[in-house]
Amino acid sequence: MNLTSQDLLSALRWRYATKQFDATRKISTDVWDALEESLVLTPSSFGLQPWKFLVVSDPAVRAQLLPESWGQMQVTDASHFVVLAARTDMAMPDIDAWVSRMAEVQGKTEDSLAPMKGMIAGFAERMSVEERHAWNARQVYIALGQLMTSAAVLGIDSCPMEGISPAAYDRVLGLENSGYATAVACALGYRSEADKYATTPKARFERGAVIEHI
Ligand SMILES: Cc1cc2nc3c(=O)[nH]c(=O)nc-3n(C[C@H](O)[C@H](O)[C@H](O)COP(=O)(O)O)c2cc1C
Repeated sequence: MNLTSQDLLSALRWRYATKQFDATRKISTDVWDALEESLVLTPSSFGLQPWKFLVVSDPAVRAQLLPESWGQMQVTDASHFVVLAARTDMAMPDIDAWVSRMAEVQGKTEDSLAPMKGMIAGFAERMSVEERHAWNARQVYIALGQLMTSAAVLGIDSCPMEGISPAAYDRVLGLENSGYATAVACALGYRSEADKYATTPKARFERGAVIEHI
């Protein structure tokens, strides 16, 4: 079943960066399962999936993250809080693991995927470690976008959050020296009726200023 264009646009117009969540409302398990699956299904360059998504449910951990998030209450009030972490490098073991998984799922031999493995390794080797980390972080933002859009289509509010201290998050979440580092976070749940941002007109440049037809 396809959404109509109108359904899609009304979900996208309904979505806004929620500042105040209703702390009493929780996302149901089946809806949350679908949102987790939307993260899993996110496309990435070569399919490498250079990420981890930490769903932080423990209120004590969320309370520790609050002061590392400019005190933004979405961290503690939202039904669900996801920290999207990027792999800090892309090395041969990562590529091996991905090619093995592809072989398993697609019923191919690893030998038949060797040329692809070589191509991915060649692509990654041309970058510095810092560039590979930045490359991975760009993939993570695709997951953020997919998560927010999926949520909007399901009537779930969200707030993407870069107003956080990634280094402090890594410390609180035990990510230091794990090979993953916090890139961005996303709070999800239900908007509070008191959130005036819900009714603030959505401000965007005119379509003609951002889309060019060539
Ligand atoms: C990557 C990213 C990081 C953001 N970080 C924050 C944040 O830390 N806190 C916040 O309240 N809004 C944050 N926002 C929300 C933006 O300010 C908001 O999306 C933008 O102003 C457009 O408004 P709208 O999403 O309500 O349409 C962030 C948005 C993005 C995409």
